[in-house]
Amino acid sequence: MSRTRRVLLLAVIVGTLAACGSDSSILDARGNEARHIAGAWWVMFGLAIAVYVGVAGFIITAVVRGRRRRRPEGAPASDGAFIWIGGIVIPVVVLALVGIVTVRTTAALRKPETRALRVDVHGEDWWWAIHYPASGITTANDLHLPVGRPIELRLTSDNVIHSFWVPQIGGKVDVIPGQPNYFRFTIERAGRYRGQCAEFCGIQHANMAIYLFADPPGLFDRWEAAHAQPPSEPSSELAAQGAVVFQRIACAGCHTVRGTQAVGTKGPDLTMVGSRHTLGAGTLENNAREMRRWITDPQRYKPGALMPAIPLSADDRTKLVAYLLSLR
Ligand code: CUA
Repeated sequence: MSRTRRVLLLAVIVGTLAACGSDSSILDARGNEARHIAGAWWVMFGLAIAVYVGVAGFIITAVVRGRRRRRPEGAPASDGAFIWIGGIVIPVVVLALVGIVTVRTTAALRKPETRALRVDVHGEDWWWAIHYPASGITTANDLHLPVGRPIELRLTSDNVIHSFWVPQIGGKVDVIPGQPNYFRFTIERAGRYRGQCAEFCGIQHANMAIYLFADPPGLFDRWEAAHAQPPSEPSSELAAQGAVVFQRIACAGCHTVRGTQAVGTKGPDLTMVGSRHTLGAGTLENNAREMRRWITDPQRYKPGALMPAIPLSADDRTKLVAYLLSLR
């Protein structure tokens, strides 16, 4: 193997291992479902390694022995037992093991749970609408959930097929028009877990991230209680003027801010937009500078998204940004 090839191979191996160890790897399981899947992954990985080592061993043996000893001309080959064991018995055993592990893992997942916290997650082009039926909270792209309590996500779409996937919490679940799918799991460790739409769904499929915030139960209860009420009036003068701008221009036609006259449903609910982790479902950071960029020209950052650029004076834009960031 040439030096360049060896370096390339090494780079591929290191890259693959680095991807497995990143902060959104299925091997870094933080929920019961993800733990089952990681377990099945290790069994399959172990079997694959064993088969690989066995086959590579035979190839090396064949190469070395073939050079030393040659069968006499006309002597019959005696490979019958080898073909039966290597070609039939071992593959049957390996496939049976994989089958058992798969069936057991699947059976352990998605059992209905009557005490579960239900959350509705709706795939949009290209963001996630999130609704908590029990408390009436509606938000987007940031999914807050309690640790240690059974969760049931009801996944729906009325546009195209998406796929809900937070690798550290569980496997991919399709989000299909006309058929709600249920994803049931319990989170075992608090943290922030990045998820991603895992089914190609259009031009901005890559910018359809979801962040799952797994909070300790007390923290989650406080979060839920705080956001079950509509947000209070803007505290700063600038934000209050921004609220007027928001109602005057096109924003309110597409977005909802609970407790105000803005009740649009085309775009994400903005009641909590100031506290969200990102803008445009993972497209931009959520801060004053990026918010300004986003509302100035969303198409520049997320071409194809429904939101158009809204003509605004610099002054109005500053007020609007102050208002949006005050919605927490
Ligand atoms: Cu939604 Cu890909």
